[in-house]
Amino acid sequence: MRVTIFGTGYVGLVTGTCLADVGHDVVCVDIDAAKVEGLARGVIPIYEPGLEPMVKANHAAGRLHFTTDAPAGIAHGDLIFIAVGTPPDEDGSADLQYVLAVARTIGRHIERPVIVVNKSTVPVGTADKVHAAIAAELAQRGVEVAFDVASNPEFLKEGDAVNDCMRPDRIVVGSSNPVAVEKLKRLYAPFNRNHERIVVMDVRSAELTKYAANAMLATKISFMNEIANIAEQVGADIEMVRQGIGSDPRIGWHFIYPGAGYGGSCFPKDVQALARTAQHSGYRARLLEAVESVNDSQKGHLFELIQRHYGDDVRGKTFAVWGLAFKPNTDDMREASSRRLLAQLWEAGAKVRAYDPEAAEEAHRIFGERDDLVLCDSARAALADADALVVVTEWKQFRSPDFARVRQALADGVIFDGRNLYHPDEVESAGLAYYGIGRGR
Ligand code: UGA
Repeated sequence: MRVTIFGTGYVGLVTGTCLADVGHDVVCVDIDAAKVEGLARGVIPIYEPGLEPMVKANHAAGRLHFTTDAPAGIAHGDLIFIAVGTPPDEDGSADLQYVLAVARTIGRHIERPVIVVNKSTVPVGTADKVHAAIAAELAQRGVEVAFDVASNPEFLKEGDAVNDCMRPDRIVVGSSNPVAVEKLKRLYAPFNRNHERIVVMDVRSAELTKYAANAMLATKISFMNEIANIAEQVGADIEMVRQGIGSDPRIGWHFIYPGAGYGGSCFPKDVQALARTAQHSGYRARLLEAVESVNDSQKGHLFELIQRHYGDDVRGKTFAVWGLAFKPNTDDMREASSRRLLAQLWEAGAKVRAYDPEAAEEAHRIFGERDDLVLCDSARAALADADALVVVTEWKQFRSPDFARVRQALADGVIFDGRNLYHPDEVESAGLAYYGIGRGR
């Protein structure tokens, strides 16, 4: 099928590439000429395992094109996806300016019937706004073209996005138009093997499904962080509690890992946006507000542990920080817990020697040159001349360090384990002090 995708960010690029990979003819449109030109040469602007060879192969095979030419893109697709950003505006609502700008562009240029599909995470009711924006442009032109707007949210995880796209748990199709449903079913048929994964529903339910999924996952995390904080107070170990509850299939093993708070471009933004949507519709979403507020405090928890150990003597100390990205397998630092920690350490007069396998460039872009930050080339280099170690992101390579060596390197011999990667007894038997999340020490 002929598909056009507006936006070559995370979602647009991964979706476009996977659709091309199963044989569709995909045109990706972006207003950023440098990005488009880079993509055509195989330069991928994000770190995502497995994506680069797929982009190159499908581009070389002539199934995946990149362009800034919106009218050409619009002429190409039978299905036109909108996958541009929806950043939060001042009050946490999703800012729809980019989505609606694409809608107007589509309205200015369509010549034949199309199905427009919202893939961006957008508040309930956005499909109606996109519909209205396209219709207004068509009216202005004085032409009539049949079109419809469907919702087809994505459920990709950064770091595992290609796999999520190629082997989806479910494909949510929001449309009450049988033609749109049939086209989307045909588009996704190659991903819908072995058992039925396509769930068809009305547009608004599809829009809400996306937020509900992220809000539920964020709730699990804040819930576990809350129990971890209680565990810390009462002298219990959250890791034992986690194992004690995860085997109940109604609770499940996934997303019950306590830590330094959730980050990234999705959970913080989506929980807030859903709370704002609720508020605008006259309902106060108290649970969502609590999920957000628990997460906000949790991002400061590592620093609280540091203060617990050092009292007011943090000034002049040097902290090795392992992990800057909001989670492993990405270079993304949006809303990362590391950012709060570093700000608090600097505020208290401490220095940081940080190492992240992928996010150093991003960290340099965010923080620039500063005397109290050294971005190191390896985990071991970060330990040199440091007083203590803080683990913020659970990259695989941080999982089993040589604790004797860590003890030797750290002047104060203390580890703050923000992801509960280590067994406290093992760390302590190497002569290190150990602080984890919700472990009573
Ligand atoms: C999330 C969802 O998992 C995807 O399904 C969704 O499509 C995506 O948002 C989106 O809306 O685009 P992502 O933001 O890439 O994906 O990251 P996750 O793997 O979900 O992790 C989010 C944060 O939660 C990370 O900071 C992670 O460290 C934290 N987390 C996760 C925990 O603290 N504990 C856990 O048990 C799991």
